[in-house]
Amino acid sequence: MEIAFRLNGETVALHDVAPTVTLLDWLRDARGLTGTKEGCNEGDCGACTVMVTDDDGAKALNACILFLPQLNGKAVRTVEGIAAPDGTLHPVQQAMIDHHGSQCGFCTPGFIVSMATAHLNGATDHDTQLAGNLCRCTGYAPIIRAAEAAAEQPVPDHLQETLFLLAKNIPGGDAAGGGGGQPPLWVQPETIAELAKWYAANPQGTLIAGATDVGLWVTKAFRDLGPVAFLNQCADLKGISKTDEGWRIGAMTTLTELEESMAPHHPSFAALMRRYGSVQVRNAATIGGNIANGSPIGDGSPALIALGARLHLRRGDARREMALEDFFLGYGKQDRAPGEFVEAITVPDQPDRLRCYKLSKRFDQDISAVCGCLTITVEAGQVTRARLAYGGMAGTPKRAGHAEAALVGQPWDEETVRSAMAALGEDFAPLSDMRASAAYRMETARNMLLRYWYADQGEAVDALEIAP
Ligand SMILES: Cc1cc2nc3c(=O)[nH]c(=O)nc-3n(C[C@H](O)[C@H](O)[C@H](O)COP(=O)(O)OP(=O)(O)OC[C@H]3O[C@@H](n4cnc5c(N)ncnc54)[C@H](O)[C@@H]3O)c2cc1C
Ligand code: FES
Ligand code: FES
Repeated sequence: MEIAFRLNGETVALHDVAPTVTLLDWLRDARGLTGTKEGCNEGDCGACTVMVTDDDGAKALNACILFLPQLNGKAVRTVEGIAAPDGTLHPVQQAMIDHHGSQCGFCTPGFIVSMATAHLNGATDHDTQLAGNLCRCTGYAPIIRAAEAAAEQPVPDHLQETLFLLAKNIPGGDAAGGGGGQPPLWVQPETIAELAKWYAANPQGTLIAGATDVGLWVTKAFRDLGPVAFLNQCADLKGISKTDEGWRIGAMTTLTELEESMAPHHPSFAALMRRYGSVQVRNAATIGGNIANGSPIGDGSPALIALGARLHLRRGDARREMALEDFFLGYGKQDRAPGEFVEAITVPDQPDRLRCYKLSKRFDQDISAVCGCLTITVEAGQVTRARLAYGGMAGTPKRAGHAEAALVGQPWDEETVRSAMAALGEDFAPLSDMRASAAYRMETARNMLLRYWYADQGEAVDALEIAP
């Protein structure tokens, strides 16, 4: 298979690319570009951050869980391509020197690329932009000071990347099938219809969306993925559109896009997405992948279930839909047939009553111990609708049916809330694991409901609002 992309301003064309070579390995081993560092090799530390530009703009991504075919038709900048060709340092590089932002230096290339990408995009929420970059020795204060100092400087000309869109040589058809009736090793369909046809014929194949899960299957579990379809060129799987009923969210919508588009309508959903991984992870991870992996601690599903979302699946030409909560049958088991994939999620338009609470050991870049997403509608002092969806409380993301029943039809007061809190004990029997004990999970899930009540009464309940 052939791919082509731009690397630090130069065109690179590659033949016979294996689908699971990561950009990080290729940069270091094949190109000798060792500025991009390998720290964790699982998307957590940001030492491998690169800038990738496509028709949606420039994004920071983790090269360790980015496969080469995902770069087809895009432009990549590594830390070696951040300074100008004449050697003039980028403003963030100069600022890191001036503000003593580096000690051992291992994390520094990743920080520089994240900072240069944020600088290019005019993003000045530096804590958020750099939450996916781990520094063990300098400490963040000088680094943030450097980011602040560089913010006013102009973007250097050489970073105004001319978007490089090549005529794509999409494999998967007869011509690219490898000849002799051999199936191709990987395909990159351009439309949902092409994908549906391929997956129906190759139900044992692996779909790769953002690769924030699948990347780890390769770098940590050394799994053989079999035939692979990359979904990132499927234009009609991407994006969010407004419909008469609400929103249609394509499976390939990234968490960054979801955060931005939900912010005006359901700010608490957007705030939850801000707590999802890091900028690099949110730029890659898709909502379709987050649902399809069936994780009991995924953050997307509880919020969407609380909003009454429906899941749209497709296999070949056949389509079906279901309430999102019905997709999750049990731990590791979803209602998805071989060759069937997530096409979209639809969310009904509604007044915003959603509150999302993510409990994890760290604020940034951590998986939920408990994620509670609650929508409670009150009319004339009575609860008329309640959708309480939790992650981390069962083998799947799950609604709390008993607690919902304890709320609906009752007066919206603390007594009702406390009886619903008690009823949560009938809904869930959580596990103890390294993230939290069963008792802690139950107590905090109950307290999320109480917190919702207090917030609705106008109490200040957001711990982050407590001034230092
Ligand atoms: C550092 C790090 C931090 C993370 N933090 C969080 C977090 O805070 N919260 C959280 O919820 N998750 C987190 N994750 C997990 C991960 O980001 C999500 O599960 C992610 O949404 C998966 O989406 P993806 O597009 O990367 O999927 P991929 O890795 O490409 O695929 C995941 C699975 O879904 C399948 N798949 C993908 N798209 C489709 C489709 N359209 N139809 C059918 N199957 C499909 C794939 O075949 C695979 O089985 C984190 C991961 C990393 C590496
Ligand atoms: S090496 Fe740690 S995020 Fe890539
Ligand atoms: S300077 Fe050593 S890890 Fe950041």
